[in-house]
Amino acid sequence: MPRPTVAEIDLAAIVENLNTLRSALKPETEVIGVVKADAYGHGLVEVSRTLASAGVKRFAVAIVEEGLTLLDAGVPGRFFVLGAPLLEQAEEIAAHDFEAMVSDLQFARLLDATARRHKRQVCVHLKFDTGMGRLGFHPEEAVDVTRQIAAYPSLRIIGAMTHFPTADVPEGMEFTRQQVAITRGIRQQLEAAGFHIPLWHAANSCATLTLPESHFDAVRPGLALYGGIRRDMTPLKFRQAMSLKTRIVQIRDLPAGHSVSYGRTFITKRPTRIAVLPIGYADGFSRRHSNRGEVLIRGRRAPIAGRVCMDMTLVDITDIRTAALGDEVVLYGKQGDEEITIRDAATSIGTIPYDLMTSIGSRVPRTYLNQPHDIILYKVTTLLEAAGATDYLESPAPGSGSKPLRVRKTAHRRDTA
Ligand SMILES: Cc1ncc(COP(=O)(O)O)c(C=O)c1O
Repeated sequence: MPRPTVAEIDLAAIVENLNTLRSALKPETEVIGVVKADAYGHGLVEVSRTLASAGVKRFAVAIVEEGLTLLDAGVPGRFFVLGAPLLEQAEEIAAHDFEAMVSDLQFARLLDATARRHKRQVCVHLKFDTGMGRLGFHPEEAVDVTRQIAAYPSLRIIGAMTHFPTADVPEGMEFTRQQVAITRGIRQQLEAAGFHIPLWHAANSCATLTLPESHFDAVRPGLALYGGIRRDMTPLKFRQAMSLKTRIVQIRDLPAGHSVSYGRTFITKRPTRIAVLPIGYADGFSRRHSNRGEVLIRGRRAPIAGRVCMDMTLVDITDIRTAALGDEVVLYGKQGDEEITIRDAATSIGTIPYDLMTSIGSRVPRTYLNQPHDIILYKVTTLLEAAGATDYLESPAPGSGSKPLRVRKTAHRRDTA
């Protein structure tokens, strides 16, 4: 029997969001799928396969280990390590042919030597700090460092990038515009010095949606793919892909004046019916929701009563008289006509949707809705391959009238990217 607490991921929403985002781009602009941090808690492999089936060819991960997970799962595509690796990790980057962000010369030198040992050229993206103050070469040193890195025979500079710290707020737009101008200036200087870097990218989701001049050759959206952006930011419609759900495991009637949960921060003002939910902060349901958050039961809002515990949360269902043991409870997502968006839940506790999405713990099983046909086919063919099959005949869906289609065994191999 699976745990009643699940994060349900609608993969069709991710594909829809990708296509909605693409509608804001020129057809030639590449979408680099940002799938770091377990695809913002949605499941690295499932999400990346879905994006790959919808045409995404390059995936941004934060750490080398995430690249290895994608490689082991056979996800087709190029894996680009966005974060700053330790010097020792040059080995894995070179050995597995990952693309790497380069923002310091010491790492570049070591990566070049490591790549040479592996007898390959490693593809790198130079990062410039145009205002984030985190990683990147300063604009004034752009020509000099590019010259030094371009001289390394085992590094191939395929990309150049920057990052925006304030693209998500209207007050930050002017700063983002200045960063775009600085990036353009760097590109012109490098072109003038004879360095043609093919893939320039800067825009996260919000810049992609609000500032077309920031698109360059590729964009790097994460949050928009998962449907977490502010609804008033763009007329385009994005759909939240994740719902967090559980079920009522106990119902208790307490008299007026009874305390509820740790610290006795909630005292019943009337005879109160409390539902016990098997989800707590150890599942990533923040303790900051204590006495503040709400959940949906039978299409209605029930307030959280008292402190969220490690494994349980208590909600006041006094006004939802029909609520019963085993009822579905939605913590983030839709139920009936009501919805609790992850963004609203985050705002109510003073944080951001990225924080809530990525906090959902590993003991919360992810279940997937609407797996694209390609992914189901991938799974079936992987099983058949393991059993020794070399090629297959795919049957058409009953009543579809379409002809059987021959599927080649190698269709989804990672080296097809
Ligand atoms: C370097 C970089 N690019 C792109 C993104 C994607 O940003 P967003 O999820 O806001 O689209 C991130 C996310 O933190 C990032 O760190």
